[in-house]
Amino acid sequence: MKCENFDNIVLLDKIDSTNSYLKKNSALLPQGTVVFAGEQTSGKGRLSRKWFGEKGKSIACSFLIKDIFDNVDAIRLSFLFSIAVRDALTKYIDYGKISLKWPNDILVSGKKICGILSEYSKGCVVIGIGINAADFIPPQEIGQPWTSVESESGHNVSIADLQEELVETVNIIFSRYCTNELSDIPFIWFREADIINKNVTVLSGSTAVTGEVISIDDKGILNVFDKKNGEIKSISFGDITYND
Ligand code: BTN
Repeated sequence: MKCENFDNIVLLDKIDSTNSYLKKNSALLPQGTVVFAGEQTSGKGRLSRKWFGEKGKSIACSFLIKDIFDNVDAIRLSFLFSIAVRDALTKYIDYGKISLKWPNDILVSGKKICGILSEYSKGCVVIGIGINAADFIPPQEIGQPWTSVESESGHNVSIADLQEELVETVNIIFSRYCTNELSDIPFIWFREADIINKNVTVLSGSTAVTGEVISIDDKGILNVFDKKNGEIKSISFGDITYND
């Protein structure tokens, strides 16, 4: 993995998706490229969902990490970036109100404020981050409670400042990862997410597992003790809900 910091900042007015842009242009762009878009016309979410934002009210960006030879790194990096975004948000919102939701969501008082989509393509990892900076009217129902930095902090938020804080915090966390200080991600993530022993339901496609979270592995796979049949289920993707 290449370890240079993110200092090649590309600002685009409008693009289909910042993740798609980096995946298309990864061969031409250097390590450490971050692309921010004022507006995305086809923002992508996890599990083939759409991601919505609005110009001036949302952060849509993607970070390019080159020379990656294993998809596991993509997963590990997505947990790392979740921690970095959480840290950046603490400049605006009380730490105690922010929580990490498996695999890569960030919530404030239980409402989604940020989503992360990591994609592995041609030896590169692209980490896409969407943050609701201010409330906006989405073109269709989002389907889950959500909030924004502005509404949680009670202050107007400058998009440029938030972008700057984000890159700064990512650079701090990423360089700690590069010096092996944070190499036990996703275990660090698991501890900070505080979900051990929590009763959850995880819906993966049409399969639902209800039980107690017992651990995570180094690939970000969640192990849930299914009380119904006394089995441990290892879950690699899906949507989690907390039952208590
Ligand atoms: C999710 O919660 O489902 C992940 C959402 C990720 C959205 C971001 S916005 C910037 C980047 N470009 C995309 O098309 N998606 C990610």
